[in-house]
Amino acid sequence: MSSRGNFSGRIGFILTAAGSAVGLGNIWKFPYLAGQNGGAVFLFIYLICVFLLCYPVMVGEISIGRRAGLDAYGSYTKLGGRRWGLLGLFGIMVGIFILSFYNVVAGWAFGYFLHISFGDLLNQTDFSSFFGLFVNDLLDLSSAEGLANSNFIFSMVFMAMTAFIVARGIQSGIEASNKIMMPILYLILIGIIVYALTLPNAISGVKFYLIPDFAELKIQTLFEGLKQAFFSLSLGMGTLMTYGSYLKKTENIPSSVAVISVADTSVAFLAGLMIFPLVHFLQFKLQVTEVATAGPPLIFIVLPQIFHEMGPLLGRIVGGLFFLLVCFAALTSTISLLEVPVAYLVDQKKMSRKKVSWAIALLIFILGLPIMASQGMIPALNKLAFYKGQDYLVFVADMCDISLTVGGCLMCIFITRRWKIHNMHDELEIGNPGYKNSFLKKYLSVTIQYVCPVLLGILSILIIIDKFFGIDRIFN
Ligand code: PFF
Repeated sequence: MSSRGNFSGRIGFILTAAGSAVGLGNIWKFPYLAGQNGGAVFLFIYLICVFLLCYPVMVGEISIGRRAGLDAYGSYTKLGGRRWGLLGLFGIMVGIFILSFYNVVAGWAFGYFLHISFGDLLNQTDFSSFFGLFVNDLLDLSSAEGLANSNFIFSMVFMAMTAFIVARGIQSGIEASNKIMMPILYLILIGIIVYALTLPNAISGVKFYLIPDFAELKIQTLFEGLKQAFFSLSLGMGTLMTYGSYLKKTENIPSSVAVISVADTSVAFLAGLMIFPLVHFLQFKLQVTEVATAGPPLIFIVLPQIFHEMGPLLGRIVGGLFFLLVCFAALTSTISLLEVPVAYLVDQKKMSRKKVSWAIALLIFILGLPIMASQGMIPALNKLAFYKGQDYLVFVADMCDISLTVGGCLMCIFITRRWKIHNMHDELEIGNPGYKNSFLKKYLSVTIQYVCPVLLGILSILIIIDKFFGIDRIFN
């Protein structure tokens, strides 16, 4: 198996898996979800989901991958037969769709990084119109400068960076790049938090973020918490199964998973601690009581306005570093997403890693084109008639979210019914002699066989009902 490549050791694996987990979901989505869903209440629900549902699923995924030593399709097929292989294929497809929209948003962040650091983005007065024009500027062929500023190009360059790293292989591409980017990411994050906390009105932001507001507690809070936890931890579609297949037998899986979960959750938590003081600083500066903090406006409209308020030099430095942080977070995730289909073709079709990395990246980039165009350029995609008038990007993202919890549920059923839990325990004992008689073993037995499949199954169904019909309408 060594010809497939492997991680050099524990640190490399943990940093790389944490790199997959830490991404746009943590820095952009978690803070605004927490802000909308009652602050600390959301954090609390999120932590329960991580502990009760995500931790066992992650352990399960990595054990399957390491035992089989193959891509997601190959792993399910080897341990469960051809029919279970379909679950692997489903995961690979979901990964392709996630990457198709994720890369578009990453391209925006990359464009903002360049525009803030080297251009004059912060001289704008209306950041909302700027963002509107920016996302619609797909491909400007009228001048060389226009072309260099097109979204199409930013997104293409981002995908090319992803392909370049994945093409270099596990240790010298994926692991090496994560080992550089992840520590820098943490440093920038902490640096900006320290600075943000010194700004006027920062403490009001911290209070808003951390004081629970139980009035906001609804059934949807639970849905949002669960979906966010799955997405944030990269679960349910075979990313960590694929990474697990490159893990050495000597490594202790449960303890690595604990570190990865804590690393991911702490970045999400810290991102809120960075963003809310900044937002409240802006409210103070503008003398308003609220600014929009939901969805894309948060990082692409509100934050640039804040950097603008900081003055030309400081704004450029803090704003540039912030978007560099977002790009690093996104790149360590896009790499892991691309690796899933690449590993499939390398393992199953014996194709060359270099060639398939570039070919699949191109294919996914093309799949992203309608997503770029859905931001206003093509009205039919901007307001989907069958999806409550929401745009195609939101539709694809929502469908992927649902697929992750369904995928996690089916994986638990696979372990329980097909592969059998004792085989998972055997795998977990390797590299972990104390596991045999541990409490953890009992905890995983109960959660993987009963708690996770039942709760994930019920919640996935409720989430689907809520998405398409609105659960309030049905139960009220
Ligand atoms: N975990 C990433 C984030 O929070 O942004 C997104 C992601 C990466 C999801 C890889 C799924 C995946 F396989």
